[in-house]
Amino acid sequence: MNSTSTSNRPAILVTGGAGFIGSHVCVELINSGYLPVVVDNLCNSKEESLKRVTQIAGVEPVFYQADINDKDAMRKVFAAHSFEAVMHFAGLKAVGESSQLPMKYYRYNVAGTLSLTEVMEEFKVWKLIFSSSATVYGDPVSVPIDETFVTSATNPYGRSKLIVEEILRDIANAPNNQWNISLLRYFNPVGAHESGLIGEDPAGIPNNLLPYVAQVAIGKLQQLAVFGNDYNTVDGTGVRDYIHVVDLALGHVAALQSLDKSGVGCRAYNLGTGSGYSVLQMVSAFEAASGRKVPYKISPRRPGDIASCYADADLAKSELGWEAKFGLERMMQDAWRWQEKNPNGYDS
Ligand code: NAD
Ligand code: UFG
Repeated sequence: MNSTSTSNRPAILVTGGAGFIGSHVCVELINSGYLPVVVDNLCNSKEESLKRVTQIAGVEPVFYQADINDKDAMRKVFAAHSFEAVMHFAGLKAVGESSQLPMKYYRYNVAGTLSLTEVMEEFKVWKLIFSSSATVYGDPVSVPIDETFVTSATNPYGRSKLIVEEILRDIANAPNNQWNISLLRYFNPVGAHESGLIGEDPAGIPNNLLPYVAQVAIGKLQQLAVFGNDYNTVDGTGVRDYIHVVDLALGHVAALQSLDKSGVGCRAYNLGTGSGYSVLQMVSAFEAASGRKVPYKISPRRPGDIASCYADADLAKSELGWEAKFGLERMMQDAWRWQEKNPNGYDS
């Protein structure tokens, strides 16, 4: 399916498709012969990302600016297309903000998903891929983490993901239903498309490590605060499983294609690399890729952080036929290319 025409491509609804992960998924959907139809309210993204997707992939995603909570707007989108499946990225993701504004997080992440599934049911679209998170493992008893580990939440954002996972499992387990659902638990997505045209464009001061490091390297921020160096890890700083966003996007295409084979039900998969790197290892790798210094100071631990979090990614390999292929060096090179070419994100 290499055709650039849109009429013969199976349509996939991509909620939140203008965002960081969704835009990379749009590219890989087009590369695999699908037509992404994006619904995004642009509360944390710019339409420019979709123009760049078109530039990279040669096919323009269909775009509707709408809120997933607006059922009438969503009905119009479903009426205009015959969707093979839905990939659901739309939601809010800032852990700290979720403790300040819990109702907003439950409205966007939980109520928004429920509205979406209700409209899917009305239009008899039964295949759904949901953006979950490794945050559902809370503070794991050991690493690597596999999908059988107990789940828990330590903040409203994490709880919103856990609640949605449970809602979707109940929906798929109800008698005589036809739902076919994948819950994809992402570890830490980083990097950018190799073109340097799309990437992560956080509003304001970044919360996450990689965008912060990139903005220090380019000179927009002065120095990185390393949150704690007294954890029980290789060098005392926090260890995470960083996964290239293009690998993550390819994991979604693999999950989509395996929905056809797996039949009715709801399954959870870790999307990670299986390797963990510390904050200081990430800083060194970024310095090597960018040729820039990243000044840092050791600061107190950030409340709610855990020492180590990395995936056992075997289930995705055996059941989806997917595994991450990009290593740390490539993640850092691509993140730096995006930052250098777009110092002010999509406003550059
Ligand atoms: P993002 O903020 O870049 O993308 C989310 C998109 O959804 C944005 O374009 C935003 O405008 C849109 N959106 C939000 N609420 C909406 C609504 N009510 N209606 C329509 N559009 C709406 O975030 P991302 O990093 O691409 O994350 C995508 C998904 O993956 C989110 O659900 C997030 O919780 C999940 N996730 C992200 C990470 C991460 O570290 N980036 C890790 C685990 C899980
Ligand atoms: N860190 C710093 N300084 C910073 C930012 C982060 O030292 O300025 C450290 C953190 O303490 C942690 C590591 O870098 O050890 C990674 O932190 P991130 O904020 O980038 O990522 P988290 O693992 O804390 O959380 C991310 C997402 C969550 C998601 C979780 C699991 O932000 O939404 O991964 O998927 F739930």
